[in-house]
Amino acid sequence: MNYQNILQQARHKQEPLKPERFVKISDRKDKCDIPTSAFKPLFENAYLQTWKGIILNKGITEIALYPMLVYELQPKTIIEIGAFNGGGAIWLADHLDLFEIEGHVYSVDIDLSLLDEKARNDSRVHFLEGDCNNINAVFPPQMLSELPHPWLIIEDAHVNLVAVVEYFHSNGLQSGDYLIVEDTNRLYWELWGDNWDDRAEMEQGVKKMDDLRNWLIDHEKEYLVDTYYQDLYGYNGSKNWNSILKRV
Ligand SMILES: C[S@@+](CC[C@H](N)C(=O)[O-])C[C@H]1O[C@@H](n2cnc3c(N)ncnc32)[C@H](O)[C@@H]1O
Repeated sequence: MNYQNILQQARHKQEPLKPERFVKISDRKDKCDIPTSAFKPLFENAYLQTWKGIILNKGITEIALYPMLVYELQPKTIIEIGAFNGGGAIWLADHLDLFEIEGHVYSVDIDLSLLDEKARNDSRVHFLEGDCNNINAVFPPQMLSELPHPWLIIEDAHVNLVAVVEYFHSNGLQSGDYLIVEDTNRLYWELWGDNWDDRAEMEQGVKKMDDLRNWLIDHEKEYLVDTYYQDLYGYNGSKNWNSILKRV
């Protein structure tokens, strides 16, 4: 093992200005290197993962990737669409603290009664009750215009996706900001099959990658997939395919 070589390779791959790190959606395939048979053991128990005792409903690869991205990006604003128990938002706020980044976390959900008591009482996160079908009421343009950049937006509600990303695109996403769309891996949704309680949510989930791809094709030069994070655990080695996007 030559540790000098490992260091050199790592520096080369992380280089933010390296042109091949960022690629257009048309150069990406909707597939991943994680075998389908591994999905169940890897993702089935995501609801049993916790952070400070609160459910942390993230894929295992995101648990490693997001802190690296947060450190590199140094976001001043993090917006999470879909708060659920609040574990993801608290985890992100803790990473801002850990990295001494002066940023703020906003997390929206249609049903804030789902929040864990500890999350509810954490004043660092602005939990907002609202509906993705009416996203402009949750984040009015005036409010967005005052939120400092860089932004990290994580869509994780699986509702009205195209209108939601279009809204943030038209109301503030700037060069250097990141947009992540979670659960674009169609196979992940199909895994649950008839066991998924909410049929409509599952149907939206299965076509999430197609919806995102179609939107991205119209914005090919504005949003590029960051392959450093996207492919760190193999091609699209995640439940989120082609969806760690940098606004350029
Ligand atoms: C997958 S969970 C979010 C998980 C969370 N981001 C985390 O990391 O722990 C999806 C959430 O989206 C919320 N949701 C569903 N429909 C919504 C809508 N129309 N507007 C806003 N939130 C919605 C659900 O209530 C649920 O809590």
